[in-house]
Amino acid sequence: MSARVLVGEVGLSLAVELLRKGDIVALPTETVYGLAGDAFQPMAVARIFEAKGRPLTDPLIVHLPEVQWLGRVACFDSPDQKDLAEELAAAFWPGPLTLLLKKVADLPDLVTAGSEFVAVRVTSHPFFQKVLRHLDSPIAAPSANRFGCISPTSAQDVLFELGDKIAMILDGGSCLHGLESTIVNLSDQKIRILRPGPITGDQLSKYGQVSVATEKVNTPGGLPGHYAPKKELRIIKTDINSVHPKQTIGLLAFTPPDQKVAEGFGSVEVLSITGDLREAASNFYHALRSLDNSKVDIIYAESFPEQGIGVAIMDRLRRAEHGSLNNAPQATIA
Ligand code: TXA
Ligand code: MG
Repeated sequence: MSARVLVGEVGLSLAVELLRKGDIVALPTETVYGLAGDAFQPMAVARIFEAKGRPLTDPLIVHLPEVQWLGRVACFDSPDQKDLAEELAAAFWPGPLTLLLKKVADLPDLVTAGSEFVAVRVTSHPFFQKVLRHLDSPIAAPSANRFGCISPTSAQDVLFELGDKIAMILDGGSCLHGLESTIVNLSDQKIRILRPGPITGDQLSKYGQVSVATEKVNTPGGLPGHYAPKKELRIIKTDINSVHPKQTIGLLAFTPPDQKVAEGFGSVEVLSITGDLREAASNFYHALRSLDNSKVDIIYAESFPEQGIGVAIMDRLRRAEHGSLNNAPQATIA
């Protein structure tokens, strides 16, 4: 099979038709592309796990077109939790925030990997919203990459990752944020960040006490070795000018390095000319993928300031480094 990449009304109606039949398709969101299946058809959900090569123990995020659908998949522990969830939904939905709530009994257990909690979000992407409304059913969708690999931020990326496993990709252009949604747990009227993302701790702190989950998250997406390139990746711990460039090394740079330094590397990807972290986030996976597919043997990545969305970039970069070293342990770097 080779996936058809479609746009416009033709793409939208074929996506809905396939989803209705229990098939899976890739859809654009404002964060990364998702591999979508009807959340209420267990066979469709099983197909998602199979296509990604994802363990059945790793639950999927459920997508809705509007907050009014929340009751179809989730319920609340308490009136206070309901108030907090509704405040966050009013502030950030549609958008890149995922809430972990109690699941309703009807939702197939396969979606949540047997957990009594479901992760829910309302995506702002107009194509995804249209598909949801036409299908009239919540959609389970993990990122549309092979398990543990780099998340896709364009239809071409999905084609590379899963082109031989799915029938179609709805092309919605490049993803706005380029990093996966922020996931929060809302127990005890507190906001606990399980995965940092485009909605930052600062933004959330207007709505309650915010903490970052420190306990080991047992789902594979919470494991250190995720989002990994095939090549070895090393985070530069010192100033970039103290690294000896070589043609066999690719550089993932936050801002443009000195021309002399840049020329020494085999390939250079700059994430933001002006040092804008949002712009860097939106280019991050694409740049990592380009370096992974280039002729270099190893990728060096600059560190990013851990403020705002920089927290999420460093989270993904550390996981990518860990995952890549598990693939190919090699030399150390200063
Ligand atoms: O931006 C996003 O969130 C993208 C787009 C497609 O919506 N989706 C995404 O899904 O990143 P995925 O499956 O690649 O990452 C979801 C993460 C995984 O680490 C999963 O283990 C965790 O969320 N997760 C999902 N449901 C959960 C649940 N019920 N309890 C705990 N963790 C959950
Ligand atoms: Mg993922």
